[in-house]
Amino acid sequence: MTYTLPELGYEYDALEPHLDKETMEIHHSKHHQGYVDKLNAALEGKADLQDKDVDELLKDLDNIPEEIRTAIRNAGGGHANHTFFWPLMKKDVACSGAISEAINAKFGSFDAFKEAFIKAALGVFGSGWAWLVINENKELEIMTTANQDSPLSQGKMPVLGVDVWEHSYYKKFGPKRNEFLEAFFQVIDWDKVNEHLSKANQ
Ligand SMILES: [Fe+2]
Repeated sequence: MTYTLPELGYEYDALEPHLDKETMEIHHSKHHQGYVDKLNAALEGKADLQDKDVDELLKDLDNIPEEIRTAIRNAGGGHANHTFFWPLMKKDVACSGAISEAINAKFGSFDAFKEAFIKAALGVFGSGWAWLVINENKELEIMTTANQDSPLSQGKMPVLGVDVWEHSYYKKFGPKRNEFLEAFFQVIDWDKVNEHLSKANQ
């Protein structure tokens, strides 16, 4: 089995005017495809690993043969993170239900959460991701990872994540990562976040 690029699930221009069509197209068809290709190359001839879900590989990196561990961490992380990322975005979905209650309980208010999340995302030096996860204590936690590292490798279950690599925003926003993050908050699919929350709490 080889890994394949998942469908985006919507048109490249579906998130306009918040996120631009051209960035979405390059990000999905070139960058994400690149991670898929590198992951397949790293796993060539390793049938036992090829049959596993990429999330399972990332949860147990210590058991990946050392000579391909870094490749799986980077390319497998890239594939898993982007696969998680695309369906998190949809226009005009309000934050409601269980995730709204959990955010208010943990952070005091939605605005306080948003401020803390954006602050964390702005604090990522270089390339990486900001996440809202369910941690080992079944509590919400904001965290960041460098490069394509996955929260799964640290025993955390992501419910929301944002790609803050420059390829994610530079074309439209230039160096203004903060403006990209404000735009991202306009297109978070909170229904999808609720799905992840429900799964993580099972
Ligand atoms: Fe990306």
